[in-house]
Amino acid sequence: MSISRRNALGLFPAAAYSDMRLDFRSLRQSLCVVNDPQSAEEIFGAGAAKFGLTHLHKRMLKPSLGDGLIVAEGDSWKTQRRAAVRPAHPSSFLQNASLIDPLIQEFVAGLPGEGSPNEILTALCALSIDCIAATFFGYRGKIASPDVLDLISRHRRVVERVDWMDVLGLPPALESGRMKRARRVAHELDQRIFFEIQKMKQDREDADMAAGVNDRDFAVSILAGFESVAVTVNWALALLAQHPECISEIEAESFRRDEPAPVRAGKPERAMLTCVLLETLRLFPPLPLIYRVPKSDVGLPVGAIRKGTVVCVSPLLMHRHQAHWERPDSFEPQRWRADGASYPAFMPFGLGARQCVGMRMGMFLCQEILSRILQNTALQMVPNRIPLPRMGVSLRPQDPISFSFSPQRV
Ligand code: HEM
Repeated sequence: MSISRRNALGLFPAAAYSDMRLDFRSLRQSLCVVNDPQSAEEIFGAGAAKFGLTHLHKRMLKPSLGDGLIVAEGDSWKTQRRAAVRPAHPSSFLQNASLIDPLIQEFVAGLPGEGSPNEILTALCALSIDCIAATFFGYRGKIASPDVLDLISRHRRVVERVDWMDVLGLPPALESGRMKRARRVAHELDQRIFFEIQKMKQDREDADMAAGVNDRDFAVSILAGFESVAVTVNWALALLAQHPECISEIEAESFRRDEPAPVRAGKPERAMLTCVLLETLRLFPPLPLIYRVPKSDVGLPVGAIRKGTVVCVSPLLMHRHQAHWERPDSFEPQRWRADGASYPAFMPFGLGARQCVGMRMGMFLCQEILSRILQNTALQMVPNRIPLPRMGVSLRPQDPISFSFSPQRV
């Protein structure tokens, strides 16, 4: 049973876009979808200690990520989280920002030209891997070899196949065939990544490079973040291809870069590029479903939830919910213009203590990659239609999006 290729927007009934709470019951599992931002704050913030990660989360990720940050809980999570916070902070990763310049330049030079449209998501994945390696770990060079990319897509195909043991919510200790296959491919991927790192270190003779970085942490962080960055840039380009007026505004702002930002209601306006990214993350949050399970019966603003019920807080549903947004399905980056504009239902990076540790780096990389693409090229999407998102490891388009790029007319 594959969870991929299903229209992500049609996965839940229409009430999921208007009600604050939906309850489902299957075989031996209860599921509660929570669409109330205040309750979400409670689940991930003040009340986080009352919730744990679900068996499904661990069944999907443990075979690949072992006891790494994303699957860890308790003291192990605290230790790993503390170690990840420093390299993920702008004061660290911006020191490595210049390392991504040649990577993005090479990527832009290889974009499909006018008359030969093609999908670019695979190349964006490679670029994201190398950019995270550069900014997070200070690696200079390329890790995303064709072998690594091939193993990553094999890995995705295995992880996206859900089996009956997952659906029954069995504990991860009861391993299914899928989990064993995922472990095998992840092991091969680890080996390949380490091989590429060793090769790069030898080639560069760079003794200090990424000193103290454990290669296993490296693989985990890369796997956690690269796909989100790549799919966000891919969706943003598709939305921009349909909204050339936003591209013109981004261009105009880049010419006025050294001027102070215009002020609206006493606060500086957000740059259009940032607004486009926020609106992209709203419509197509890369990780559309986040699950937790209460360790005992809990009371939330949306009502009581029984111990053991799987609670789903979905950025996708929250971001398109009629009670939280005006014209929820339409692309309106202007809603983010006022610098203070924030929406409690907006949570593409999750919330609370386990909020994405790479959030600022992710935003930075998306902005850098997008702005360089737009600076150097004029963009076309073929056909000029946004595909539906499909549910999978991340929110990818159902059909590949083809772009062509022509040199910018000045
Ligand atoms: C557009 C980019 C990104 C988006 C939208 C995104 C989104 C998310 C979300 C929704 C979570 C889950 C929170 C939860 O389970 O409560 C998460 C966790 C995580 N992300 Fe990201 N992410 C992005 C980029 C990155 C990058 C670039 C990195 C690494 C450099 C990264 C590393 C991680 C890690 C390690 C976790 C687990 C944190 C923990 O459990 O404490 N992410 N991300």
